[in-house]
Amino acid sequence: MSTAIVVTSGKGGTGKTSLTAAVSSCLAALGSRVLCIDMDVGLRNLDLALGLSDRALMDFTDVLAGRCTLERAAVPHPVVENLSLLTAPVTFPCQAITFPQMRALVQQAKAQYDYVLMDSPAGLGAGFELAVCAADRAIVVSTTDASALRDAQRTVTLLRNSLERIHLVVNRVQPKLLRRLHATIDDAMDEAGLPLLGVVPEDPQVMLSANQEQLLILSTNKGAALAYLNIARRLLGQRVPLMKLR
Ligand SMILES: Nc1ncnc2c1ncn2[C@@H]1O[C@H](COP(=O)(O)OP(=O)(O)OP(=O)(O)O)[C@@H](O)[C@H]1O
Ligand SMILES: [Mg+2]
Repeated sequence: MSTAIVVTSGKGGTGKTSLTAAVSSCLAALGSRVLCIDMDVGLRNLDLALGLSDRALMDFTDVLAGRCTLERAAVPHPVVENLSLLTAPVTFPCQAITFPQMRALVQQAKAQYDYVLMDSPAGLGAGFELAVCAADRAIVVSTTDASALRDAQRTVTLLRNSLERIHLVVNRVQPKLLRRLHATIDDAMDEAGLPLLGVVPEDPQVMLSANQEQLLILSTNKGAALAYLNIARRLLGQRVPLMKLR
């Protein structure tokens, strides 16, 4: 059965787009058919993280308006098989898109792909609601700082209205600080009542790969790339221990 996952956070800049690109590519490399949808209308950059910026010409509003088919608008990755991107428009009022329209689009995508990952915008406004309305489950990405963790908890409270399966990923964890952070992360999970899907280390390769418009997993299989692979495996139902950060 196909699954639609929204990647969200509340606070901006926690690593949603990096995670969406990396986990999607890992799922595809592990054999699933994956469609990423950039739902960050106006500030889209999933195309950069996937290395597809000059290829995505039609966006999801073109499909919604019937100007082109999903098959035409979804851009296949040139290197990673089974990985495609449906990009966001540069400008468009999210309020003009209805939940039933969005749900119909995601339903159509689920008929063709095993996983549909939606990269949501920062904040809890109309763009967030649109990204959440068609999701089966959510990944909430937080960094270790208190404000991001608190925003993650607020996000979870809202998500609980419509979703049962919500997971937490703690990103940009500095290995040296991990022992001291354990208590903070545990507290955040307890308060939000969330299962931890993964811990991703601080890794300059995440930014370097995005700047070079190269998929992270095509540059390295260590550090953050390995953490994202483990997250993909857990989504597939495999038991993978949390990685040891050094
Ligand atoms: N594990 C990591 N290690 C180092 N840098 C990271 C890591 N994860 C993300 N970054 C960097 O943090 C910045 C923000 O990441 P990203 O764009 O993925 O966040 P976002 O949550 O999608 O932001 P926004 O809310 O603006 O959409 C980028 O420069 C990215 O390269
Ligand atoms: Mg983003």
